[in-house]
Amino acid sequence: MTAAPAEPASAERAILMRGITKRFPGVVALDDVSLEVRKGELHAICGENGAGKSTLMKILSGVYRPDAGVLEIHGRPADFGGTRDAERAGVAIIHQELNLVEDLSVAANVFLGRERRTPLGLVDDRAMEAETARLLETLECRVGPRTRAGSLRVGDQQLVEIAKALSLDASILVMDEPTSALTEAESARLERTINRLRERGTTILSISHKMEEVFRLADRITVLRDGRHVRTVDRAATAPKEITGWMVGREIAEHSFHEPRPRGEPLLEVRHLTLPWPGHPRGYRLSDVSLDLHAGEIVGVAGLMGAGRTELLETIFGVSPPTWTGEIRLAGRGVRFEHPREACAAGVAMVTEDRKRLGLFPDLDVAGNVSLCSLREAVTGGFLSRSREEALVAGPLRDTGVKTPGPHASIMGLSGGNQQKCIIGRWLLTRPRILLLDDPTRGIDVGAKAELYGLIDRLCRQGMGVLLTSSELPELLTLSDRIVVLAEGRLTAEFPRGRATEHRILEAATGS
Ligand SMILES: Nc1ncnc2c1ncn2[C@@H]1O[C@H](COP(=O)(O)OP(=O)(O)OP(=O)(O)O)[C@@H](O)[C@H]1O
Ligand SMILES: [Mg+2]
Repeated sequence: MTAAPAEPASAERAILMRGITKRFPGVVALDDVSLEVRKGELHAICGENGAGKSTLMKILSGVYRPDAGVLEIHGRPADFGGTRDAERAGVAIIHQELNLVEDLSVAANVFLGRERRTPLGLVDDRAMEAETARLLETLECRVGPRTRAGSLRVGDQQLVEIAKALSLDASILVMDEPTSALTEAESARLERTINRLRERGTTILSISHKMEEVFRLADRITVLRDGRHVRTVDRAATAPKEITGWMVGREIAEHSFHEPRPRGEPLLEVRHLTLPWPGHPRGYRLSDVSLDLHAGEIVGVAGLMGAGRTELLETIFGVSPPTWTGEIRLAGRGVRFEHPREACAAGVAMVTEDRKRLGLFPDLDVAGNVSLCSLREAVTGGFLSRSREEALVAGPLRDTGVKTPGPHASIMGLSGGNQQKCIIGRWLLTRPRILLLDDPTRGIDVGAKAELYGLIDRLCRQGMGVLLTSSELPELLTLSDRIVVLAEGRLTAEFPRGRATEHRILEAATGS
């Protein structure tokens, strides 16, 4: 490794990365990337799934050491041996994949590894809880500091991760898709926090697949493609189309969803569905929800965080506690699934928002994760045939555009967006009649999203029905034939495609 050329240390510069290279088995994740970040700016990093964004941020925050290249923080050379070193240099990171210890409280997670102590050296739970409560309050998050982290929904977990990073009071904050699991309202709250941090002079690096967010917040934008630095530009001097063009290196085909799909027979009827919530003042997670889904139809389920969207899908899929009342009918027949396996056998599939908890199997390779629910087709004479498995997963890997060194690469080595595509592929492989999509494109890049929308549209034309939630309203509006709105567990409105607008949906979702 050669020393960085002697340059006048610029007081304006927070970060300097020069010639950063990082290899993993079978992939060059970063290839000679150089980047300068100015003090106090919000610098957005854009790129397709697998472009190397997270890897670059992990190098900056001490998770990985680069194979080559140098890093300078506030004018000083930095050679981080771990995240603690980076924290000491003032760098905090909010990771793309949530890292909370499920069995610990929210406060214990926020202060993990740097517990507050009383003068007697005892762990000071009170101080940590008070500080956590204060941080969560600035995020306008209503979770209590003593709540078990594992019991939180993804969106709340993400807010806790953010609180954790804020508690470090870092001068450089790295956010790897912080809003991917947040609703619009929560993102707006986070944005207020970001603005406060910027007033204090915090330098922020942010990764996001939401172009609109990038263009609202960033001062400058860097685009990575296939591990290489493509361009760094002032936000004011560019446009979303130009950025996505640099990201993918080609034009993205715009898919039209305005060609109506024929609506077929009813596939799913939900009647008066109520899911109790013992111990909660409200008493229920869902109350008296009724809706229909027909073949060829995409029905969007809108609502704020905690409105019951995930619970609705999970109850249909058989992962909620079996305490619900009401009726769920598939093709006219009443069902009550007690395990996803039963739902799967009946032609129902679900892509969840939480790929860590319900989706990925770290010990299986890419092919294993995709073929998981269709294994019967790859088994001959009691043995799992490797070639059959490969043939089985080739289609879904291609259709969803998974970027992997090969079908037998480790699933944990895939980028976040590519892991999500594997889960979508897994469920498509089961050829479901009914597909439940719970925020399916979380973390997926713009190009891949467009392709996925096309795929969903094609499958609906062949008679599939889709129940969809999304943290992005524009996505719901693009895809859905109808949108139903949940507010605090109740269905408050239903709009056909032509009448659904962001404004009307938000009104119904907030009960105003
Ligand atoms: N721990 C690892 N082991 C093996 N390969 C890895 C590992 N981490 C990342 N990679 C590979 O490095 C490349 C870049 O991945 P990275 O996670 O940085 O992408 P990304 O730009 O953050 O994508 P996304 O938008 O999907 O999050 C990918 O090809 C990925 O498979
Ligand atoms: Mg990433």
